[in-house]
Amino acid sequence: MSSERVVDLLRTAYADEIETVMNYQTNAIVLDGVRAEEIKESLKQDVQEELGHAEQLGQRLKQLDARPPGSVEFTARQESLQPPEDSTDVLAVIDGVLDAEEDAIATYRDLIDAAEAADDPVTEDLAVTLLSDEEAHRTEFRGFQKEYRRE
Ligand SMILES: [Fe+2]
Ligand SMILES: [Fe+2]
Repeated sequence: MSSERVVDLLRTAYADEIETVMNYQTNAIVLDGVRAEEIKESLKQDVQEELGHAEQLGQRLKQLDARPPGSVEFTARQESLQPPEDSTDVLAVIDGVLDAEEDAIATYRDLIDAAEAADDPVTEDLAVTLLSDEEAHRTEFRGFQKEYRRE
């Protein structure tokens, strides 16, 4: 059996993934310049991965007799990931991505704990897999941050 807390966290994570898709996509389009090319490519790839995360979270909600939220229930939260005024400000986008990944990591850690408490190993397993993906994203963008800070 699954707890209300598990369903709430799954729904939060779903909405966060969808917001991440929107902001990664937007920044992949908005950024300009030679220095932005690699970041844009990486963001485009991550759009597909984060969309896959949302899909898996939504399917899990359905298996628990719940459903993912639609846009009317949605509250935007990723302020630091808004496209920068200066379209060559790659570092601003990298910092925003790291905020989003840290936030996702915290949510999946909470979901792991909640699923374990609710004796829901399937959700726990999903949360562990997604946590591992987000930690890999964080490592990649920490590397970018190091490089872009030095320049
Ligand atoms: Fe994700
Ligand atoms: Fe991610």
